[in-house]
Amino acid sequence: MLDMGNGISGECSECEERRETEKKLRDREALVWREWMSGNPPYPEARLSTLDTKGREVVLEAIRESFIGTRGVWMIGSSGIGKTHILCAIGNYWLSKGKMVSFREYSTFISCYHRDWQLGAKWSEGDNDPPSLLRCTRGDVILLDDVTPTGRVMDLHAAGFRKLLDMISREGKRLYVTGNHDDIQLASCFGGGEEGGRIVSRMNGLCAPVRFRGPDRRTEWLQKEQVK
Ligand SMILES: Nc1ncnc2c1ncn2[C@@H]1O[C@H](COP(=O)(O)OP(=O)(O)O)[C@@H](O)[C@H]1O
Ligand SMILES: [Mg+2]
Repeated sequence: MLDMGNGISGECSECEERRETEKKLRDREALVWREWMSGNPPYPEARLSTLDTKGREVVLEAIRESFIGTRGVWMIGSSGIGKTHILCAIGNYWLSKGKMVSFREYSTFISCYHRDWQLGAKWSEGDNDPPSLLRCTRGDVILLDDVTPTGRVMDLHAAGFRKLLDMISREGKRLYVTGNHDDIQLASCFGGGEEGGRIVSRMNGLCAPVRFRGPDRRTEWLQKEQVK
């Protein structure tokens, strides 16, 4: 029931119908996410159309360009400014265009890749690719969240990440990345030198780097919770 604010409560049939339609759409979208997304996006409700755009103009411009070009976007910025939120909104955009989207956190990818190696396994016979790579690259659009390794990355992990980027590039898929590190910091996590440089230039080839700033939205959210 709606409170009309004038003491009269009720809902006209048109509103009720619209609400029903919206609910169906939401359910359908939730289903689409389940069906088309590998991974577990944290903000499935995020939409570019409802995004608070203040301070995000530069990233939105890059996103718009990515829709007509072939390169995705690499969003670089500190924690809590809304990178993952925007990433999910991008995922929803591509879902609405009928594309299949994969969401993966970098750390999840790395631990799965590591486990694939520990298991040794059938995939390593012949030239099959490890399941962690396949799972991550299933979509037409790949969302890779929080590529922010702490400290020096193990050689195995660097090799896994480069394999992932090579595969995305080879298959002509679109990649969107978020992370706290810029190119120099990231290259140094991957050991600097040739390997670090190679990984960062692959990233640049696949997605346009965009640095942006903003307030830490997590504190905003916490304050709202405390007021309740
Ligand atoms: N444009 C936005 N509109 C509303 N809430 C947002 C927006 N961007 C981020 N948030 C909220 O701010 C918090 C941090 O966002 P998140 O995307 O996780 O940041 P990051 O990935 O940069 O660390 C979350 O609670 C998220 O829901
Ligand atoms: Mg994030």
